[in-house]
Amino acid sequence: MVASEAHDRPIDLELPKADLRAVTLSGLDAWEPSLPKPSLRVVRGDARETGLGDNSADLVVTSPPYWQKRDYGHADQIGQEATPEAYVATMMEALTEWKRVLRPTGSVFLNVGDTYFKRSLVGIPGRLEAAAVDAGWLVRNRIIWTKDGGMPEPARNRLANRHEYVLHLTPKLSYYYDLVGYSEHMGNGANPGDVWHINPERNMGAHLAPFPRELVRRAILLGCPPQVCTKCSMPRARLIERTAELDASRPQAKRAMELARQHGLTADHIRAIQATGVSDVGKATRFQNGTGRNSAEVQRLAKEAKVALGGYFREFTFAKRETVGWSDCGHNAPARGVVLDPFMGTGTTLKQAVAMGFDAVGVDLAPHLSTEPEPS
Ligand SMILES: C[S@@+](CC[C@H](N)C(=O)[O-])C[C@H]1O[C@@H](n2cnc3c(N)ncnc32)[C@H](O)[C@@H]1O
Repeated sequence: MVASEAHDRPIDLELPKADLRAVTLSGLDAWEPSLPKPSLRVVRGDARETGLGDNSADLVVTSPPYWQKRDYGHADQIGQEATPEAYVATMMEALTEWKRVLRPTGSVFLNVGDTYFKRSLVGIPGRLEAAAVDAGWLVRNRIIWTKDGGMPEPARNRLANRHEYVLHLTPKLSYYYDLVGYSEHMGNGANPGDVWHINPERNMGAHLAPFPRELVRRAILLGCPPQVCTKCSMPRARLIERTAELDASRPQAKRAMELARQHGLTADHIRAIQATGVSDVGKATRFQNGTGRNSAEVQRLAKEAKVALGGYFREFTFAKRETVGWSDCGHNAPARGVVLDPFMGTGTTLKQAVAMGFDAVGVDLAPHLSTEPEPS
């Protein structure tokens, strides 16, 4: 295994201006001017021994060589191991290294596919998941990445493969996660689900096997804090409050809002429903810290609302949430969140991260970063 050698010279990318801070981060703008512009760093080296500092990255987004697929012709390459067991063991070495490099709130989005061997799928993603769990990782999601097209497959007795996996792995349960920001970007509900339909991009040349920028964008939106404190490593997290507004694309929610209007329910009624939780109006008092009188009033309002809404009562416990600000540890020493791709290849992850206003670090035995602007 080669030890990694860092190239600390930051690389300037020509990126379209409009793409910078492409994420909506209401309330964060005030801190933005104090930060240097996003940086990009490339390290020639091994994903299992990156040479990067402890606690120096917030998110890993990466696509390793799949087992027994592409031969990159490098003595230290991953992917050409003789058995699936050896491949998984090698990948676990890499995961152990990334755990060291990640801050305590960090996580990994690992794009991985399966391989046919002796006519059968060998189950690489499942084997990796099992090994990760055994090593103490949490497998938070197995995202299915589907695509319409793909390489033509000669087989006549099985279906062509049109999906891969993106495993979301975390060392701890207290990982940074921005489901609200991600859902706003996706625009299809409060939790858009674990299937990603993303077609390959025009620039995905067959030789280096890059993955689509949209896949990276989604992982970053979910898992990389826009800013992190350089003193205490705490990420700035979105502060959320619940509104009385429901997701009008759901027919049940639409009906609930109609009924609330017809019966003249007030904002206090809605707050009372939300205070009672999903189960029963009788539990209202448990959620109240105020006097007995306040609790009785909440209970009365919730009961009124239940009579007006009937079975649609529960809809208001799923009301939309809005961002009211970002957490602040008070050290006043913020830095941009850092995205790491330890198999960076052509640098898709790095370019997407910088375009979104994050710092990016890439490692590869043979980095092929192109500094050309990406087609949008
Ligand atoms: C599937 S490609 C990654 C493509 C990348 N996502 C992109 O957008 O271009 C896998 C990369 O892993 C690199 N690689 C293979 N073994 C490695 C190792 N042990 N450490 C670091 N990089 C390695 C290869 O050089 C190749 O660039």
